[in-house]
Amino acid sequence: MAIRYQERADGITSDQLFGYFQGWPNPPSPEAHLRIMQGSDYVVAALDRGTNDRVIGFVTAISDGVSCAYIPHLGVVPEWQGQGVGRELMQRMLARLSHLYMIDLMADEDVHPFYEKLGFCRGGAMIIRNYARQACD
Ligand SMILES: CC(C)(COP(=O)(O)OP(=O)(O)OC[C@H]1O[C@@H](n2cnc3c(N)ncnc32)[C@H](O)[C@@H]1OP(=O)(O)O)[C@@H](O)C(=O)NCCC(=O)NCCS
Repeated sequence: MAIRYQERADGITSDQLFGYFQGWPNPPSPEAHLRIMQGSDYVVAALDRGTNDRVIGFVTAISDGVSCAYIPHLGVVPEWQGQGVGRELMQRMLARLSHLYMIDLMADEDVHPFYEKLGFCRGGAMIIRNYARQACD
């Protein structure tokens, strides 16, 4: 199998991170992307052995370690979408979070069917977005 999954950010460098955050007006740089992964409580990354361990997908979670976790980022690079990578990343993350009561995330309406297949249900949410900070510089 060309893909290997690892459950930590150790050993990943910013040059393995490209092709993400497409359509974001002010996307995080690869360096900021790496900091996001390193600063998360849980990470699962999918690496493609065929392209020098490019990170072709990742998911992060932050948690209090007691009752809840929030999943702020899930992404699969366009060339690898639709091949089961997103599902595998989420299944691995959900297994790691299975001791917790609340597992929440935000997603655009068109992606809800993807999450419903993984057991999520729709719920209300209130959000603030500080777009001046979107790039995380
Ligand atoms: C959404 C995303 C993570 C899905 O990952 P993926 O690797 O392409 O999805 P998978 O191949 O694992 O798909 C698993 C299942 O979900 C379905 N699915 C995937 N994306 C879907 C979508 N946008 N809408 C509806 N169903 C979707 C697949 O058809 C598949 O169904 P099946 O089990 O019946 O075959 C990925 O497309 C992505 O990164 N998109 C851009 C960024 C994004 O939207 N991130 C989510 C932020 S909330």
